[in-house]
Amino acid sequence: MKMLKEKIQKEGIVLSDTVLKVDTFLNHQIDPQLMQEIGKEFAARFKDAGITKIVTIESSGIAPALMTGLILDVPVIFARKRKSLTLSDNLLTATVYSFTKQESNDISVSKDMLHEEDVVLLIDDFLANGQALKGLNDLVKQSGAQVAGAGIVIEKGFQTGGKEIRANGLRVESLAIVESLVNGGVVFAEESVN
Ligand code: G4P
Ligand code: NA
Ligand code: NA
Repeated sequence: MKMLKEKIQKEGIVLSDTVLKVDTFLNHQIDPQLMQEIGKEFAARFKDAGITKIVTIESSGIAPALMTGLILDVPVIFARKRKSLTLSDNLLTATVYSFTKQESNDISVSKDMLHEEDVVLLIDDFLANGQALKGLNDLVKQSGAQVAGAGIVIEKGFQTGGKEIRANGLRVESLAIVESLVNGGVVFAEESVN
């Protein structure tokens, strides 16, 4: 997605050979116009998939997920990372291991939000090692719903999550695939692969 790649080139900060900071439009400040275009792009790619719900994880997945839900005209559910006071039992949960933080955390969604007849599109801001996306996929499958695929804003193609998840048969659509962050520059993959 051209507009997104240009934004990354212009405002992204390469923190290391593996980490890209995008706090001016995705992870802290949010660019609503860009999010709307991202929503349109995900909606176009999944328009024939029969999506009935979108599932993401708080917090940075919510903006792109919401815009996609607006266009597909379906509800948007965000998995919670912390236990909620009002959301206690009746939960679907999955454990997500973070390589960066070297810790495991449970994510959860109320069983009331997902049903067998649902067809779900997963959305997230980043795909790196894929632990979050695998957790989301597990969690949705516990409900009996079908997962039609995943929409990712920025995939780090040099990490293994995307390859593994595609090899497991899930359709993954990434709007920008970063092939390398070495020497302080962002290099994109030629074309987004499915
Ligand atoms: P891992 O699979 O590589 O181990 O990822 P990890 O769980 O450690 O990721 C921790 C957080 O960092 C996640 O957000 C993830 O989306 C994000 N992340 C991973 N790589 C990058 C990167 O290169 N750049 C940026 N900006 N973020 C990255 P989170 O903690 O769930 O936070 P949020 O959703 O509230 O923003
Ligand atoms: Na994030
Ligand atoms: Na995220």
